[in-house]
Amino acid sequence: MKRKILFSCISLFALVVAAGAQTQTMPHLEKRGALTQLFVDGKPFIVLGGQVNNPSGFPDRMENAWPKFKALNANTIEYPIYWEQIEPQEGKFDFSGVDQIIKGLRSQGLHAIPLWFGTWKNGAMDYVPAWVKADTKRFPRVLDYGGRPIRVLSPHGQATLEADRTAFAELMKHIKEIDGNDHTVVLVQVENESGILGSPRDYSPESTRLFNGPVPENLVTGLKLKPGTWSEVFGPRAEEMFTGYYLSSYINAVAKAGKAEYPLPMYCNVWMGGEGTSDRFNEFDRPGDSYPSGGPQSHMINLWKVTAPNIDILGPDIYHQSPLIYRMILSRYTRPDNPLYVVETGSGTVFARYCFYALGEFSAIGFCPYGIDANSGSELSPGFTDMAANFRILKTALPVIADLQVKGKLQAAVEEEFIPGRELSFDGYDILVRFRPPVRSSGKPLEASGPPAPSGRVLIGQLGPDEFLLAGFDAAVDFKPSLDSGFTSVQGLLIEEGVFDNNGVWKRTSLINGDISDDGLPLGSQGNLIKIKLMRY
Ligand code: DGJ
Repeated sequence: MKRKILFSCISLFALVVAAGAQTQTMPHLEKRGALTQLFVDGKPFIVLGGQVNNPSGFPDRMENAWPKFKALNANTIEYPIYWEQIEPQEGKFDFSGVDQIIKGLRSQGLHAIPLWFGTWKNGAMDYVPAWVKADTKRFPRVLDYGGRPIRVLSPHGQATLEADRTAFAELMKHIKEIDGNDHTVVLVQVENESGILGSPRDYSPESTRLFNGPVPENLVTGLKLKPGTWSEVFGPRAEEMFTGYYLSSYINAVAKAGKAEYPLPMYCNVWMGGEGTSDRFNEFDRPGDSYPSGGPQSHMINLWKVTAPNIDILGPDIYHQSPLIYRMILSRYTRPDNPLYVVETGSGTVFARYCFYALGEFSAIGFCPYGIDANSGSELSPGFTDMAANFRILKTALPVIADLQVKGKLQAAVEEEFIPGRELSFDGYDILVRFRPPVRSSGKPLEASGPPAPSGRVLIGQLGPDEFLLAGFDAAVDFKPSLDSGFTSVQGLLIEEGVFDNNGVWKRTSLINGDISDDGLPLGSQGNLIKIKLMRY
């Protein structure tokens, strides 16, 4: 009997240890100095990802796109899981597609970020099951100013919340069952571009009653405001804040239920709008009109941080081509309480350049262009060629890049129209990056390099007092001792091109010490990853 008890105690202990180990090593966000980074299997992880098109969340379509994922050099794929697909009948769940996709991505050595297309998708409700759409009594829609129901579910619908969170919790439970030990899934998106498109708020009698009442205490306290009604406290922003409060609290409840089953880091993506971020330049920028009201737009981040503590990250979807607006959005979503994750962005050279701002200037934990399975063939569409080149030169260096981010030793130099060069300052060194300069190609006269549109992009990290890592395209890089260093000249001791192996050890693939770098260390249009040791004299 005694032996039996001892045996059960040991197995219980083993179980507890195993569960603990799973929790400890599961993907999570970790504070490192001033930054918060994503950790997968105990190591910092930067998502070099891509999102498939909205209709592609099916095993066959995903499998057909495997060659494109490979060609993109992505390490992670974002793809939709439709509520409609996993719960076609209330309470009857079908996870066969979910399983196949996760196993498929795992077989390709890829990580996965499922996007929960639940109550909200682009400020509407299109991916909820038919049984939710059809029952307008149980699952009330938003009523617009004229009292007309619109194609958006109300954030005040308790039954809708109950149904959404039940489905999401089932999904997370299932993901834990099939992936709790493998960690293919590293992050989860809750809803998609949430908010109300078509009205600043729900004008149903219940919603209006709440709107005429006081701002709830947790928000007043959280935002350090004076109590009052919504209009008294927020003036012209009252309806948007009101919607934001109820909508983010709803999404927080969904995320909380999911985390109770499997506590992966969770985020919400954002349809940009407000405060100079709208890309609808010919329209007035109004909540519910040019962008979904109540979503986590940049002027709503503070509110969301108070009301949705289970959402770890608010991540922008940025399709702006203007570098000014792009960087402004990056800076607004980079906060001590919000690591930057660029959830969606465009294709083409422009966004391939902006990837370097995100990683080098704003310490992003990930960057994902949208629509990577765009064409029907097996080839990656040409729009993604530059992003694929980025990912190719960066992917072996990611742990080093993550460390440099934490140490504040990583910077970006990106070419823009009318800006042919940029100077960066590091400890003891100034570095000049010239974009598409004349380069010397052996034996031939100097010739212009790179395509005509701005394409230059370089990440530079200081590895040690006299050692740098360079990753980039279409640029020439020159070094000088900084003014106060007491030195006047710099000489390369060792200039190597290479990659990092799986253990993070540098493997040289070529030596470029020679006259090739007489006119500045060249980074070609195919991209180079270079380590350089210098001496000052
Ligand atoms: C942003 C949405 O979040 C995506 O799901 C997709 O609809 C794209 N827009 C399309 O451009």
